[in-house]
Amino acid sequence: MWRWHVCCAVLASMTLARGWTPDECTKSTSSSMFQVRSSISNSKASPTCAPLKNEGTYFTVETCVGTPPQCFDTVADTGSDNVIVSSCVCNELAGTGCGLHDKCFRGTSKSSTFLISEQPIIESITFGSGTVDTAVATDMVSVGSATANMSEGVLLLLNRAELDVSADFQGILGLGVPKRSAAAYTSSAVVMEQTSGGSDEVSRALSSGTCMLFPQLCKEGARHSRALGATEEAPSELFLEAAQIQRFSMCFQDSAQPGALRLQVPPFREPIPQIGQLHWGVSFMGLSVGLRGGSAGSALFCGPGSMAEGMQSPCGIIPDSGTTLITGPPHQVSMLQAELCKEWPRCNRLSGGPSSAKFEDLLLQCSTWISEGGLDEIPSIFFQVGAGDGKVKTFELTSWAWVTLEIIDGQSFCSPGFGSMDYYTGENGPVWIFGMPLFFEYTVGFDLNANEVSFEKSACNPCEDNNASTFVTLPQGTRRQPRRGKGQRVVRPMDVSLPL
Ligand SMILES: *[C@@H]1O[C@H](CO)[C@@H](O)[C@H](O)[C@H]1NC(C)=O
Ligand SMILES: *[C@@H]1O[C@H](CO)[C@@H](O)[C@H](O)[C@H]1NC(C)=O
Repeated sequence: MWRWHVCCAVLASMTLARGWTPDECTKSTSSSMFQVRSSISNSKASPTCAPLKNEGTYFTVETCVGTPPQCFDTVADTGSDNVIVSSCVCNELAGTGCGLHDKCFRGTSKSSTFLISEQPIIESITFGSGTVDTAVATDMVSVGSATANMSEGVLLLLNRAELDVSADFQGILGLGVPKRSAAAYTSSAVVMEQTSGGSDEVSRALSSGTCMLFPQLCKEGARHSRALGATEEAPSELFLEAAQIQRFSMCFQDSAQPGALRLQVPPFREPIPQIGQLHWGVSFMGLSVGLRGGSAGSALFCGPGSMAEGMQSPCGIIPDSGTTLITGPPHQVSMLQAELCKEWPRCNRLSGGPSSAKFEDLLLQCSTWISEGGLDEIPSIFFQVGAGDGKVKTFELTSWAWVTLEIIDGQSFCSPGFGSMDYYTGENGPVWIFGMPLFFEYTVGFDLNANEVSFEKSACNPCEDNNASTFVTLPQGTRRQPRRGKGQRVVRPMDVSLPL
């Protein structure tokens, strides 16, 4: 079972991962060392839908690499940027975390479009607490009918010993935001350094891993050459950019049903400005609690009043399909859970008054009450986002989306899908990561060109239902089944402290 925090990205870890230390970042501001990526225009890609396989704590999409194609179930991750597939070299070397029989990619003599330099660049990528080592190669990559020649953009995983992943890990399809400026990297990396001890991670990445284990793969100077020696280079191209995809959407279904990744979808009906520089992000203008289907109460936190001078938004939200939970700063998570308890009569009337801990306990004991009202009696959370022109839009996340129900030996256990993680930025305050629950409740759209996102309340149509209308509005008050029913795979949400 894979506890997947991934990719997440979070943490600007991708930046660190590429080996920038804060020093490098500072240097890179002085001259414009990164190209500003030109926006995508005249896209030629045609619409395509790729099914997302439901693995419980994450969803995978088939990504094929090479000619003829070798295909992998890769984690569909809007929180990271790279195409990573597991290399057969990883399987053949001991101590890498790969098994002999894991699915793996081989380019040499197997793919006619495969190119790799004689002295491959080894790139380390740090996801939260774990670092992976990859070799940088060039080859054709396809998802659905979208295809791109990823020049130095296919990362072959050589070592994942540090990661806590299941044996069937095959790779990651990064669906992150296009990087528009050098400034984005700099400020984000600095924030990272201040908040989470990131520089340790960098030094750890530099002093361990593939090059130590297999010096033959990393001749002198090869390691991190892209990151440390060649900061002039623009960050590697995203698959979506290379395949000329302007807009895509993603949605998940529960109960082991598939989700859908649609590429080249029509423009959004109600776009929301995208404000993230390293990650897809929206401005978070308040979080409140209220009855399901009702209206939002006053903001508990992140309301406009909490915005200091010079800030762009009171808080930020990263919509991240590669993170299992919804995470936020610990004190806000605990305020939220206490408020959910207060607004939930069954919790509020417990002796001693409502609290975050009582909320968790009551959920855990859901077998004692779930047959009465189901999850519907739990209040919803309402989040407000900046919708441009000073407008604010409110979105509901019902308990169905964020409560995990497990049935073990006929007994129900529920847990809230919230995790604590400190992540602060100067311009956007505390940052929340809205992981899978967001994608259960909404079809989440991403527009690379217009720099917009969209949250459509809709049923998640699987790909086979290839109808022009990708969005079907649910009738008001439709009751959806709890996420994990009897007889389904028993899954646990990821543990936030155990990143990828
Ligand atoms: C992919 O791009 C590289 C340049 O980066 C080029 O040398 C190679 O021929 C291209 N491959 C295909 C199949 O177009
Ligand atoms: C497309 O959707 C419409 C409305 O939901 C439905 O009536 C029609 O039968 C669907 N067409 C196909 C080919 O599934």
